[in-house]
Amino acid sequence: MTRHKVLTTIFDGVPSCAPPEEILEEYYQNRIAAELAKGQTGDEGGPEVARIASYHKPFKEKKCKDCHDFTTDIGLIRPLRELCFVCHRDFLRYIKEPFVHGPVAVGDCSACHLPHTSVHSSLLEMEKSELCGKCHQEQRLAASMHERVMTHGMACSDCHDPHYGKVHYFLK
Ligand code: HEC
Ligand code: HEC
Ligand code: HEC
Ligand code: HEC
Ligand code: HEC
Repeated sequence: MTRHKVLTTIFDGVPSCAPPEEILEEYYQNRIAAELAKGQTGDEGGPEVARIASYHKPFKEKKCKDCHDFTTDIGLIRPLRELCFVCHRDFLRYIKEPFVHGPVAVGDCSACHLPHTSVHSSLLEMEKSELCGKCHQEQRLAASMHERVMTHGMACSDCHDPHYGKVHYFLK
């Protein structure tokens, strides 16, 4: 009885499992569709058609296993805070610069970047002009200077490097 049940399960189980390439392809397409849906704005100017502005090269090339190991609990080849340094080795050097941005110093690249695709440039999670405000709501010491430049439509990263710098405040 029990033996029969097990065999049936194994037998039924195997053919119902799609080949990995198919699962990946489906995920890949769904992921892109989800990203596009998220980027849909629909403000007064009417619905804006979102488009993918940046793809992560290894994702586009479907080299999923360069980052993923789905046999582990975390599903990644390395903990999230170490993963990016595996390929972006220059960042190992940047984090030794005299001035390193808080989230970069602790490997929290995902605070600003998405891993697969984005409707914004550079795999950014948000529009470049909004990104810094996600964390920086505090009163600027140089408040009047900042207010003046920001009303002139500048982005924070026009003056500040988002990652690191040789001088205070990662000024460019
Ligand atoms: C550059 C590294 C990288 C590549 C290449 C990559 N991923 Fe990911 N993926 C990630 C990271 C990082 C996360 C987020 C993990 C977390 O937050 O714990 C993630 C999340 C996921 C998730 C979890 C759910 C979700 O949608 O966020 C799935 C499933 C996934 N990836 C599938 C894939 C597939 C399929 C491919 C290949 C087409 C792929 N990934 C390529 C880094 C990568
Ligand atoms: C398996 C190798 C690999 C890993 C791991 C990896 N990257 Fe990349 N990444 C690349 C390659 C290759 C490029 C393209 C570089 C080029 O074209 O010069 C790239 C480009 C980028 C870009 C620029 C994209 C653009 O459109 O300008 C960003 C941002 C980025 N990666 C962030 C990350 C973050 C964040 C992580 C960790 C979650 C990560 N990468 C992990 C290989 C990797
Ligand atoms: C505070 C937000 C933030 C964090 C955290 C962050 N980045 Fe970025 N990153 C940016 C912004 C903004 C850009 C776009 C810069 C531009 O267009 O001038 C960028 C651009 C990039 C690029 C494209 C090439 C370049 O250097 O301009 C790569 C690669 C990259 N980041 C990798 C990383 C990695 C790896 C980490 C983690 C060690 C990381 N980033 C952490 C905001 C961030
Ligand atoms: C995920 C949260 C986060 C985001 C997003 C973020 N920052 Fe930061 N930033 C921090 C943290 C944390 C510190 C360290 C604060 C400290 O040392 O007191 C910091 C410090 C700084 C400093 C140095 C302040 C000082 O007094 O030394 C500057 C300049 C700065 N950020 C600019 C930016 C810019 C420009 C952006 C957008 C490209 C940005 N930040 C996006 C979290 C963030
Ligand atoms: C026109 C160039 C420029 C732009 C744009 C700019 N900054 Fe600054 N920022 C500076 C300069 C210069 C300093 C140093 C002021 C000083 O030494 O008193 C500074 C200082 C800072 C500091 C640390 C000291 C302080 O005054 O609080 C933070 C944090 C900071 N900027 C964040 C931002 C953020 C976030 C944005 C976008 C909303 C931004 N900056 C846009 C030039 C700029």
